[in-house]
Amino acid sequence: MPAPALIFASNSDDPVAWGAALRALMPELEVRVWPETGRVEDVVAALVWRHPDGALNAFPNLKLVVNLGAGVDPIFADPHLPRNIPIVRLVDPELTRGMTEYVVLHVLALHRRLPELAEAQRAARWHYIHPADTRRTRVGLMGLGNLGGHAADMLARIGFQVSGWSRTPKQVAGVDCFHGRDQLPAFLKDCDIVVCLLPLTAATENLIDAGVFAHMRDGTAFVNAGRGRVVVDDALLAALDSGRVRHAVLDVFRDEPLPADHRYWRHPRVTMTPHNATAGYPETAAPQIVDNIRRVLAGQAPVNVVDRAAGY
Ligand code: GLV
Repeated sequence: MPAPALIFASNSDDPVAWGAALRALMPELEVRVWPETGRVEDVVAALVWRHPDGALNAFPNLKLVVNLGAGVDPIFADPHLPRNIPIVRLVDPELTRGMTEYVVLHVLALHRRLPELAEAQRAARWHYIHPADTRRTRVGLMGLGNLGGHAADMLARIGFQVSGWSRTPKQVAGVDCFHGRDQLPAFLKDCDIVVCLLPLTAATENLIDAGVFAHMRDGTAFVNAGRGRVVVDDALLAALDSGRVRHAVLDVFRDEPLPADHRYWRHPRVTMTPHNATAGYPETAAPQIVDNIRRVLAGQAPVNVVDRAAGY
């Protein structure tokens, strides 16, 4: 039997590092980098981030598609995605920790009013802002999966009040949990800082619109590290202009890279990062990937399979 092969397709990740981490755990695995497919019959697994449309149809024995990220929407963007092959998301403790680091970084910066202080410094203006009471500051997380749950826990340990909102009911210790559209206004009305970590699905696309911003308090800060298309840009810009949102931190955008003429680039109350809140790391993600490859080769179901109907 020829050695099983994995096809790697990503322009943002290092194929050498991923290949080395996978082969350290599964020396018999051949790692091939798209478009150098070799004998297509050998390929049993694909590790992809924004793969070319239709690329996954080249492999008749493909048994597993692993998304090189937490959000699987780029996979579903392929109109020729093979129908019956399980898609699994990356559950990498370092990817999760990286997202928590990003959320804590920006929540603390917003809580401590760093954007206003930086503006005052640029004008050589002594602008005393009394530190807000952390125990009376509420951070609301939209999305309470792996990423949201971990960030919520860390924020609670720092001393914030923490609320969470998810599509379906969830319970997270130390977090006031809300769910469903009906409970969105009650969730939003008490938040000082709202952090969106929602995946992009048919149910979340354009979810955060003018109606949602209308339920926030005046002066709420907003962070989006989920997906750009969850937010209606014009509604966020209007909320920034009216002061409903005092500052927005955005890592993800409707179109990436964001076009140079987009208003976000020059808005004085927008902080932008280029979709680099977190990433998957080969050494910490490889065990889960190899375990799943071994499972499918043994005819078993892989773990962390994406629900195609729900889209995440
Ligand atoms: C990044 O956006 C990811 O989905 O991991």
